[in-house]
Amino acid sequence: MRFSNSAILGLQWGDEGKGKIVNFLAGNFAAACRYQGGHNAGHTLIIDDKKIILHLLPSSICHKESLSLIGKGVVISYQALFSEIEEISNITSGITDRLKISPACVLIQPYHQLIDLYKEKSNSQKTIGTTLRGIGPAYEDKVARRAIRVVDTLNENRLRPLLEETLDFYNFMIEKFFGQDALSLNRLIDENLAYGEKIKPMLADVSMLIKKLNSENKKVLFEGAQGALLDIDQGTYPYVTSSNCSPTGIAAGAGCGPLDVENILGVVKAYVTRVGEGPMPTEIFDDLGVYIANTGGEVGATTGRPRRCGWFDAVIMKRIIQTNSISGLCLTKIDVLDGLDEIKVCTAYEADDSELIFGECMNLENIKPVYESLPGWSTPTKNLTNFDELPEEAKAFIAFLEDVCTVPIKIISTGPDDQSTIVR
Ligand code: GDP
Ligand code: IMO
Ligand code: MG
Repeated sequence: MRFSNSAILGLQWGDEGKGKIVNFLAGNFAAACRYQGGHNAGHTLIIDDKKIILHLLPSSICHKESLSLIGKGVVISYQALFSEIEEISNITSGITDRLKISPACVLIQPYHQLIDLYKEKSNSQKTIGTTLRGIGPAYEDKVARRAIRVVDTLNENRLRPLLEETLDFYNFMIEKFFGQDALSLNRLIDENLAYGEKIKPMLADVSMLIKKLNSENKKVLFEGAQGALLDIDQGTYPYVTSSNCSPTGIAAGAGCGPLDVENILGVVKAYVTRVGEGPMPTEIFDDLGVYIANTGGEVGATTGRPRRCGWFDAVIMKRIIQTNSISGLCLTKIDVLDGLDEIKVCTAYEADDSELIFGECMNLENIKPVYESLPGWSTPTKNLTNFDELPEEAKAFIAFLEDVCTVPIKIISTGPDDQSTIVR
C-alpha cells in the first residue's frame, strides 16, 4: 500500500472499528491526528491480548515512533483527558512526550455536562440519546463565540472575565430553568488554571506541525471519531452529534488545507449498528438482531448501552461515499456473520418521501428497505489473514458490496485484534 496523508473515518453511525484500523496503520505514519468530537468516542484496541479503550487520545497512542495530535476541532474535557492519560500510561510509557494538543481546542466545562444531562432527562425536549458528555453544549458555545479554549486557561487575567460572563449565562439557566444549584466561579477558575499548567508542556501549533512533517515528506493519518451518519451536516439530523465527523471536518478540525488529505478510507461494518435514538431503516427487530449484537459484542464502549443492529445499508452508503471523496473501504466484522444462512443488503428504498427529503435532509423515518439476499458461509472467516482463504460466499459478499458501494474494499477485518486483518 502507498502511504500518503490519509484519513480513516467511520461511514455509518459510529463504532465501525475505526480504532482498530487506525492502530493497525499508525506505524506507517509520522503522526495521527484526531480532528473532531471529544470523549463521546470509544475506540477499542486489542494490543498483545490487552484490551484498551480510548476516548480522547488518538488511536495511535501506543506507537512510540509516531506523534499523536489533537487538532483544534476536538472538544476537550480536562478531567477526561488527564484521567485517560493516567490510565493509558499504565499500558504504554512516554505518552506526554508524543501527545501534542492544539491550544485552540474548546473546553468542555462542568456546566456543559449538566446542561446535556438536564436537556436529555427533561420531557420538554427531544431526546437524542447523547453520551451525556457535554459535547453538544460545548460546540454550541464555540459557534456562539463564548467558548473557553485551552489557551484561555493559561492565564488568570484572561480566564476570569471570560468565565465570569459565561458562567453568569449558565448559572441563570441552571437555577431558573432547571432548578438546580449554581456553580462556583472561583472553584471553576482554580480547576481550569491548575489543568492549564498541566497541559502546557503538551501544547503545540498542530497546523504548522502537520505542515512541517509534510515538508519533510513525513505523512499524517487523520482519525475521525463517530461516523458520517452522525455528522451534524450530513447525518440523520437531529439525531446526530454536534461536529463534522465526515471528511468535511478534517481541514477545519486539524488545521490543514482540504487538498492536504490525499486518501480517504471509510470504515464500515459488514452490518450496521446505532446507539441512541434516531432512524435506522434496516434495523433487525427479531432474534437475529439479538444474535448479531451478542456475537459482535455490540455494547457501547463509552456508555455501555446496547447497540441496535441492522443489515448493511448500501443506499445511504453509496450516497455518503460519493459525496465525501471516499477512495476505498475497510470492511470490519465480517466474522460476526459467520454461520448465517442468509445475509441481506439493502439496495433500494421504497419511500413516501423524495430523495430531496431522505437523501439531502437525511430524513430516514419513513423508509422501507428493499433487500438483496446473499448466501451465507459455513466455513469461519474469524481471524483469517489471507484473502484467498476466505470462503467463496464471503468473497462474493465483498464483491457485491464493492459493486453497490462503487469503491474498492482495501482492508478486511476478521477479528478485534491487529493480526486478524487482510490487506489487499
Ligand atoms: P470504533 O469506535 O469505530 O473505534 O469502534 P468500537 O471500538 O467502539 O467498536 C468496535 C468493536 O468491534 C470493538 O469491540 C472492537 O474490538 C471490535 N472489532 C473491531 N474489528 C472487529 C472485527 O473485525 N471482528 C470482530 N469480531 N470484532 C471487531
Ligand atoms: P465512536 O467514535 C457511536 C451518538 C450518541 C447519540 C449521538 C449524540 O466510538 O464511533 P453526543 O454525546 O455526541 O452528543 O451524542 O451520537 N454517538 C456515538 N455513537 N459511536 C460514537 O463514537 C458516538 N459518539 C456519539 O449515542 O446518539
Ligand atoms: Mg466506538
